[in-house]
Amino acid sequence: MKYNTPKRIGFAISEISFGAWQLGNDIDFDKMSENDAAALVESAVKAGITLYDTAPNYGHGNSERILGKALKSYRQKVFISSKFGHDSEGGIGFEVDKLETSVRNSLNRLETDYLDSLILHNPGREMLFGTHPIYKELKRLKSEGIITHYGVSVDWPEELEIVLHENDVDVIEILFNIVHQSPKKWFDEIGEKGILLMTKVPLDSGWLTGKYTKETVFKGIRSRWTETDIKSRLEIVERIKDIVGEDIIHASLRFILDYPAVTCVIPGIRNQSQLA
Ligand SMILES: NC(=O)c1ccc[n+]([C@@H]2O[C@H](COP(=O)([O-])OP(=O)(O)OC[C@H]3O[C@@H](n4cnc5c(N)ncnc54)[C@H](OP(=O)(O)O)[C@@H]3O)[C@@H](O)[C@H]2O)c1
Repeated sequence: MKYNTPKRIGFAISEISFGAWQLGNDIDFDKMSENDAAALVESAVKAGITLYDTAPNYGHGNSERILGKALKSYRQKVFISSKFGHDSEGGIGFEVDKLETSVRNSLNRLETDYLDSLILHNPGREMLFGTHPIYKELKRLKSEGIITHYGVSVDWPEELEIVLHENDVDVIEILFNIVHQSPKKWFDEIGEKGILLMTKVPLDSGWLTGKYTKETVFKGIRSRWTETDIKSRLEIVERIKDIVGEDIIHASLRFILDYPAVTCVIPGIRNQSQLA
């Protein structure tokens, strides 16, 4: 495993890290037993993975709960990042006076007394500006040691520009992969600022594994894909395969990691063979 240590973080982050949306999450993905999920995290730690990306709403709190149990004896060796804005009951709310309760609920589920990173979970544009009152509250939680770093999860280059020029964060989680490349215009600046840059959806929600066909039946969260979405993705994946060959998974992750500013990719991992 290779590691990157962003200046603002000072923690060695494995370049392949762990997207935990799928962990024990029978609601959005296929069934994963608690035992299998715990064993998966244990194997990830043994493989040298240090960063775990979760959120209160992943599996209605199950992702955080499983990570909490599985990572307890490795707490100092891992970097746990959770989020605020989408709660474990399925609600969405970014009210400043709900932040501390949300963080404390995450800490309970994660069986820890601090979060290495707390990320605003796709907030509205007005919340990307450092003048928003949420940042005063984040700084207070940081000064109390309940969180040690904070940042935002966003999807678009216009959002990155605001965060970079109108804010001062430690961590950015960005949607970035071969199919969605537009955020890269800001990568050098992110690297110069020493920000931890984690890239979410690195396999384009599974498309960049090349394993889906026009016969694949999509359930859970993926049932929202329309026929047009599926047709266009199948065409794009074929074009990518023409360029990189059949080993599209490794090529897709390599493509992202070749940007020096990228700290890690966080593929969503559902089983031991995907982890390997
Ligand atoms: N708003 C946000 O902040 C936000 C949004 C989305 C994601 N995220 C984070 O980013 C992480 C990654 O995003 P994502 O899970 O949506 O998309 P992704 O990582 O692009 O795709 C994950 C899917 O790829 C497949 N996969 C992964 N590794 C594989 C392998 N080695 N071989 C074959 N198939 C493999 C699995 O599909 P199957 O399930 O079909 O096996 C898995 O569910 C999430 O877990 C979450 O932590 C954050």
